[in-house]
Amino acid sequence: MTVTTPPETATAPKPGAAGGLRDVVATTSAISTIDGNLGKLMYRGIDINDLAEHSTFEETTALLWYGDLPNARQLQRFEEKFVANRLIPNEVLSFLLALPRRNTPMGALRTAVSASAAFDPSEGDNSLEANYLKSIRVTSSLPTIVAAWDRIRRGLWPINPRPDLNHAANFLWMLRGEEPSETEARAMDVSLILHADHELNASTFAARVTASTLSNLHSAIVSAIGTLKGPLHGGANEQVMRTLLEIGDINNIEPYMQRAFSEKRKIMGFGHAVYKVDDPRSYWLRKYAHELAAEKGNTKWIEMSEKVREVVQANRPLIVNVDFYSASLYYVMGIPLDLFTPLFAISRVAGWTAHVYEQYSNNKLLRPTAEYIGPLDVPYTPIDERED
Ligand SMILES: CC(C)(COP(=O)(O)OP(=O)(O)OC[C@H]1O[C@@H](n2cnc3c(N)ncnc32)[C@H](O)[C@@H]1OP(=O)(O)O)[C@@H](O)C(=O)NCCC(=O)NCCS
Repeated sequence: MTVTTPPETATAPKPGAAGGLRDVVATTSAISTIDGNLGKLMYRGIDINDLAEHSTFEETTALLWYGDLPNARQLQRFEEKFVANRLIPNEVLSFLLALPRRNTPMGALRTAVSASAAFDPSEGDNSLEANYLKSIRVTSSLPTIVAAWDRIRRGLWPINPRPDLNHAANFLWMLRGEEPSETEARAMDVSLILHADHELNASTFAARVTASTLSNLHSAIVSAIGTLKGPLHGGANEQVMRTLLEIGDINNIEPYMQRAFSEKRKIMGFGHAVYKVDDPRSYWLRKYAHELAAEKGNTKWIEMSEKVREVVQANRPLIVNVDFYSASLYYVMGIPLDLFTPLFAISRVAGWTAHVYEQYSNNKLLRPTAEYIGPLDVPYTPIDERED
C-alpha cells in the first residue's frame, strides 16, 4: 500500500499568515471601512461619530442600502415603510408559540426568519426591487420577533408595535410594555446605528457566501443569524455583564482581575481583531451608559465598568471594544442578558442586507481553496479486511 503526502511545493494559495482568513482580502465593498490604527469606522464614507451624533437607525439603514443619505421626503417614505411592515404574520407567531420555551432567543429568531420566507409575497423573486421589499420586511420585523419571543417564553402575550414610535423606541415598547424615556430611546437608537455594519465580519461574510450561490435573501439572513449566534462573534457583551455580576462589588475588582491575569483568562470587552486603539463605538456607548445610569439612579454597573477598565488597562495593553459599555447600558435598560445578541442582529440586519445586494450586483461564487494536509492515494480497504 502506497500513501503519499501532498508535495511541499504545492502551488495552492496559502491561508493568511495569522490563520482564520485574517489578512485575506475576500471581496471588494463600498459599504463600510475600518481604520484599526486610527480607530475610525465609516459607513459609505461617513464617520460613525457623525452618524451617532445626528442620524437615526432608519436613516443609517437607508444610507447603507442606497449609498447616500436620503433627503427629507425620501426619509419620511422610508420610515413609513418601516412602520407599515412591523407586524409579523400570525403563522410566524404560531411557530414561535410552538417552540419549546427553553429555546435560545437567537435560535427562535433564526427559526422565525426562516419561517417568514414562506409567507413573504416576493419569495421566489430575486430581482433588486423584490429584495428591497424583502429587506424592509425582514428589518422591520426583527424587533417584533425578538420582543414577541421574550414575552412568549415568560408566559405573556406579545405587544403590538406602536406606529408613533421609531424603530428603537418601538422595540423597547414591545419588549417592556412601557414607553422608554428620551434617553433610553436615543441610547437604543445610537446603539443600533453603531452596530449596523462592520466590514467583512463573520456573519456578514456568511450572508455574502450564501448570496453568492444566488440563494435568496432570507436564506442569507438565516446564515448570518446562525453565525452571529456563536459566542466568539455576537455574545461578548453578555459575557461582560456576566463578569460584572460575578464580581458583584467594586471592591472585588482588583483581586478578581489579578486572578484573571494570572490565570491568563480572556477579559471580555477588551481586544479586537482590527482595532489597535479604543473602538470608536465605545465612546458613544460609554456616554449613554453614564447618562442612563444617572437617570435611573443605578450607577453601580457603570462605576464598576470604569474601575474594570482602569485595572485592565493599567496591567495590560488592551483596547476597549464595542461590547464593553453596551453591557451595562443594556442591563440598566432592563434588557435580559440573552437578548443582547438578538439586539445585535436587529441592528446588523441593515448591514447584512446591504451586503447581500452588493454581492448580487457583482456576483462571483465565493469558493476559497483549502491547503490539503491529509494523505493521498490511500487504497480502499474492503470492510471485512478492516481491523476491529
Ligand atoms: C476580539 C479578540 C478575539 C481578538 O483577538 P486577537 O486577534 O488574538 O487579538 P490580538 O492579536 O490583538 O491579541 C494580542 C494578545 O493580547 C491577548 N488578548 C487579546 N484580547 C485579550 C483579552 N480580551 N483579554 C486578555 N488577553 C487578550 C491575546 O491573547 C494575545 O496574547 P498573546 O500574544 O500572549 O497570545 C480578543 O481580543 C478577545 O477574545 N477579546 C475578548 C472577547 C471580546 O470582547 N470580543 C468582542 C470583540 S468586538
